Amino acid sequence: MQYFDFRSDTVTLPTDEMRKAMAQALVGDDVYGDDPTVARLEEMSAKLLGKEAALFVPSGTFGNQLALLTHARRGDEVIVGDACHIVMHEVGAAAVIAGVQLRQVPSINGSMSLKDINRMIREEDIHYPDTGLICVENAHSSGSVVKLSEMKAIYELASQKKIPVHLDGARLFNAALVLGVPASQIAAYADSIMFCLSKGLCAPIGSMLVGEKAFIDKARKNRKLMGGGLRQAGIVAAAGIVALESMVDRLVEDHEGAKYLAEKLNAIEGITVLEDRLDINMVFCKIRLNHLTEDAFVKKLLDAGIKVNGSEDGEFRFVTNYWTPIEAIEKLVTEIKQILEAK
Ligand SMILES: Cc1ncc(COP(=O)(O)O)c(C=O)c1O
Repeated sequence: MQYFDFRSDTVTLPTDEMRKAMAQALVGDDVYGDDPTVARLEEMSAKLLGKEAALFVPSGTFGNQLALLTHARRGDEVIVGDACHIVMHEVGAAAVIAGVQLRQVPSINGSMSLKDINRMIREEDIHYPDTGLICVENAHSSGSVVKLSEMKAIYELASQKKIPVHLDGARLFNAALVLGVPASQIAAYADSIMFCLSKGLCAPIGSMLVGEKAFIDKARKNRKLMGGGLRQAGIVAAAGIVALESMVDRLVEDHEGAKYLAEKLNAIEGITVLEDRLDINMVFCKIRLNHLTEDAFVKKLLDAGIKVNGSEDGEFRFVTNYWTPIEAIEKLVTEIKQILEAK
């Protein structure tokens, strides 16, 4: 059975163009620096973000944790938003790999107040850890995009205090589309940026860590330490090149699909879409299931050929992507309506 999958944009499969590029990729041992396809992807990524260098890494989590390890020293404090991916969904890796302490700032849809960040930056004191890094996430996994002015203010404060800023830009290009600026303009307010090739951009594997050359040189060695020195990685980097060349601009279709889906869901009795977080390709909503259990609801959709996740904190999330065209969205709406209306 063929399914339409709204669980995430991580489920996206590579396109035919990617599969062809992968089959034909020129490769070499990238740990020796011999892989021309990886080198090209790294150059493209650095250029696109207006930075000096970039590094291909296996995943977004790997890229974030590598950034923490490379910027900070063991025992440092890293300032992060309290609902960010690094805190919520990276298995506590910051404590294990970089050996840092995460200082969490209250955040609303990814936004943190400058006052709170400033309050959490440590002064010199024999009792205090050093503040080694500030992390921002944009687009945020809540579905929201953080304003450029906010990123600028954080970056200026951090620069003044000589603290580097890392941007978890897993969905950087989604954020850029919403803000109406090139990705480099967002990247200008961070010292390092991780972005994913494997989410809405449909590459099967891989993320990029981007920054100044000295930082990336250090990160390259740390990547090896973390077991991420890949050999003929050009096979997968080739799909990443296609992702950057042909999948960035079309992300707007995912955003439009999400807005359309939100409108249709909101018209169904018992569903409330959280409209304050409808910036990118994610629709969050509360669904009154009446007598139906949540497992039964998810199973009924699955039986109809639609994959969705169960709720988290009482919210369902539907993620539009390249493989959920308008027919898929219509089908999701129709099936949900039927399930909720059935006695
Ligand atoms: C905001 C954010 N950062 C980082 C990641 C980690 O990416 P990966 O799943 O490739 O480790 C994700 C994954 O969904 C994410 O949403």
